[in-house]
This record gives sequence, C-alpha cells and structure tokens, in this order.
Amino acid sequence: MAESPESHLRVFFALWPPAEVAGALERVAMAIAQQAGGRPMARDSLHQTLAFIGEVPAGRVADLEELAAGLSDCPAGGLSLDHLGYWRHNRIVWAAPSTAPAELALLADRLRLALAQAGFRTEDRPFRPHLTLLRNVPRLPELPVLPRQAWPVDDFVLVASRLTPEGSRYRILGRWPLAQGADRTP
Ligand code: 2AM
Repeated sequence: MAESPESHLRVFFALWPPAEVAGALERVAMAIAQQAGGRPMARDSLHQTLAFIGEVPAGRVADLEELAAGLSDCPAGGLSLDHLGYWRHNRIVWAAPSTAPAELALLADRLRLALAQAGFRTEDRPFRPHLTLLRNVPRLPELPVLPRQAWPVDDFVLVASRLTPEGSRYRILGRWPLAQGADRTP
C-alpha cells in the first residue's frame, strides 16, 4: 500500500558536512561512546543547524524553498572544527569551530530574518555553531583532542526530521548553493 503523504513536516535549515568530515566525526563519536556511553550520531545524520523551524504544514515547504532560493547571494564560507565540548543541560557532546565564521553567522541571520518575514517562528537563541556528535551522554566524558576538520561550506540544505524510538531520521528536501568568490579557506 502506498504511504499517505505527510500533512506536517518537522523541518530545519542546516549545513551538511562532506563525507570525509562526517566519517572522521563519526569515528570520534564512536570512540567517545565506548568509554563514556551515549548514542553516537551516524555519519549520514551529522549536521550544523542554521535555523530550527519545527512542525509546518506540508504545503508550506514550497514557501521555505522559495525563501532559501532568495539567499543565493550569501557568501560561501569555511568551517574549521577544532574542538569538542559537552553540555550538561541536554547531555550532548559536540564539535565546533573556535571562531565562528562571519559568513555563516550572516547566513543564519539572513535565514532567520527571511523566515520571520514569511511568518515562520524560529528559535530566539543566539546562533552557537555546533554539530552534535553524541546524545544522552550521562556525564562530562574525557574528551580527546579533535584533529582539525576543514569543511568548505558551499551550500545549505532544508531537512525534514522524523522522530523514531531510535532517534531522529533526517531527509534532505532541498539544497541551495552559496555565492562563491570570498576566501573559502577554512
Ligand atoms: P542539537 O543538535 O543541539 O540538539 C534537529 O533537531 C536539529 O535542530 C538539531 O541539530 C538540534 O540541535 C537543532 N535544534 C535547535 N533547536 C531545536 C529545538 N527547539 N528542538 C529540536 N531541535 C532543535
């Protein structure tokens, strides 16, 4: 029997890492899980959230796609992931850049503004770049040194997230290029 189309989707905009970066981060996550517990994120689900939107009627996805296409003048940038951290309040271990690249902060700001103007509600919390590597980590683990992960960011994606007992399952709905020309050295 064919699946009925979903009436609502849980969505967010994100940066999706290249395969080599995702693979390296997955290996780090698995090593931490072995000694500290927690649930490592699979390599094909690792991402940097730009704007979390939440549930929207499926019919509004076209509005999100249009809004994203209008941001193609935002400059591409680079992310240099060089350290790991742990947040007690949500029990995640994350990877992050020591310096937040201005281009990506601008992209996150522009996205949030465009979303607000189109009538979507987003989080008010400030943009704190991080990629969640593990969830449900019971306490601060001993964190290894992260070999620097250089990630040239050329595009951004709209993602649908489905909650399952094993965790979120992500599906990329659309991908939009960023403007080339600026220095992309991460
Ligand atoms: P996190 O990794 O720090 O939990 C999909 O849920 C992505 O959106 C995750 O990367 C998550 O960040 C982020 N996110 C931001 N705000 C969220 C919210 N209110 N609920 C769920 N996820 C949120």
